[in-house]
Amino acid sequence: SRIVVLISGGGTNLQAIIDACTNKNYPAEVVAVISNKVDAYGLTRAKDAGIEAVALSHQNFENREDYDQALIQKIDSFTADIIVLAGFMRILTPGFVQHYQGKLLNIHPSLLPKYQGLNTHQRAIDAGDTEHGVSVHFVTEELDGGPVILQAKVPVFEGDNVDDLAARVHEQEHRIYPLVVKWFAQKRLTMQGDNAVLDHNILP
Ligand code: GRF
Repeated sequence: SRIVVLISGGGTNLQAIIDACTNKNYPAEVVAVISNKVDAYGLTRAKDAGIEAVALSHQNFENREDYDQALIQKIDSFTADIIVLAGFMRILTPGFVQHYQGKLLNIHPSLLPKYQGLNTHQRAIDAGDTEHGVSVHFVTEELDGGPVILQAKVPVFEGDNVDDLAARVHEQEHRIYPLVVKWFAQKRLTMQGDNAVLDHNILP
């Protein structure tokens, strides 16, 4: 399967997926990385791995629709089977989401449906949660609202600050995102209405 990864920043999740792809049994490859921020460090990670790195700044576009159409054209030029959002900090238009329905994945640093949106680690701390985590989900038109595929939990310890907690969550992100992408590439994972369905049969 051909993966296109969309990023806006550092790209540690991108790196985890790139690293997973170096395993010869991994059923997918990253064919391109696209960033809406021209200076995103993730673009350097892509180049270092010999992967096509594309900067497509949203600042050159009049509106969201125009940008998302340009993004679609770019992604489709790579004939992507899977579109992986990995710290892509933009709200996507319904047209974009519909175009990739069922093959658009996102990772969100909370135990969804808790804490959709930003500042999830701070919000978990402020709420006094003893448990926090990360979710990989299919993207639908509802922001951070699509069917959850897999979650990982981490403890919140007394005295944790945002950085402590973010680091703990990141470790789990890097574990579960490559795993979900693998399932999808193996065609074991489908979005069926409001549900993510994983086929548990062992493949030949
Ligand atoms: C991650 O915390 C992810 O859950 C969120 O954005 C962050 C991206 O981090 N959507 P990185 O760029 O992969 O390091």
